[in-house]
Amino acid sequence: MRVVEKAAELERLRLELPVPVGLVPTMGCLHEGHLSLVRQARDDNNSLVISIFVNPTQFGPGEDYASYPRDEARDLTLLEKEGVDIVFLPSATEIYPPGFDSYVEVAGLSRRLEGASRPGHFRGVATVVARLFDLVRPGKAYFGQKDAQQAIIISSIAADLYPGVEVITLPTVREADGMAMSSRNSYLSPDERRAAAVLYRALSRARELWQEGEGSASNLRWEMTAVLRKEPLAVVDYVSVADPATLEEMETASSPALVSLAVKIGATRLIDNILL
Ligand code: PAJ
Repeated sequence: MRVVEKAAELERLRLELPVPVGLVPTMGCLHEGHLSLVRQARDDNNSLVISIFVNPTQFGPGEDYASYPRDEARDLTLLEKEGVDIVFLPSATEIYPPGFDSYVEVAGLSRRLEGASRPGHFRGVATVVARLFDLVRPGKAYFGQKDAQQAIIISSIAADLYPGVEVITLPTVREADGMAMSSRNSYLSPDERRAAAVLYRALSRARELWQEGEGSASNLRWEMTAVLRKEPLAVVDYVSVADPATLEEMETASSPALVSLAVKIGATRLIDNILL
């Protein structure tokens, strides 16, 4: 496994890699959710590139860029065991050299849900992923359903700008109580961690009602909000039942429907979703 810090060296090494090349972009502090992507990518491709880069442009002012958990030594040990060929671990100036002032933006999809709560977030995500696609030129790139809107936006970028890249979205890996794995879960105190299970309980309630025949999206949103309100540590940002193609709120929840929510537990903002 080669650990590469320079973009130019990555481009040079890429030329020697047996194709197809798989890419898994991450911000590190790896958990089983990340590793599920790594394992699928390893199975599907002849070479595997993983990036670890806490991308400053996708964090807004007052968000957790400085405190985002970092553990490179542990990440590298985990990746070594997964048969990774190259770990790309750039500095911020390697991705964004002085004077860098061009951004990638998916207009409509970026403004909804997470984009409405975190202006500029998806511009940062789209830009860094485009940089990685250009450097690695993967045949397939792997993303998690955990960040459903991100995966939808990146699929749209690939369709428009990188027709040679197939975007693969894999299921959310969860803890025993249903809580989606996330690097940000490490911010939670034991009480907050217990409280955070309410996100998946709310999503599960929506699925249950929908399976019983509840088709009204506003009723589903209301029922999820009711579940979340019972948890004193939870503060709801949004609850959504949207069309996964357009991310527009639905009136009638017909399949496929993306049921998603963003909730603050203490100071930590968490997101989760399921597809109906
Ligand atoms: P990060 O949060 O590190 O996540 C890297 C990838 O792992 C993303 O595609 C994410 O959806 C996926 N992932 C996270 N938790 C998961 C879980 N519990 N189950 C399955 N997959 C999971 O997402 C980012 O980094 C960044 O925005 C990035 C795409 C790297 C651009 O900077």
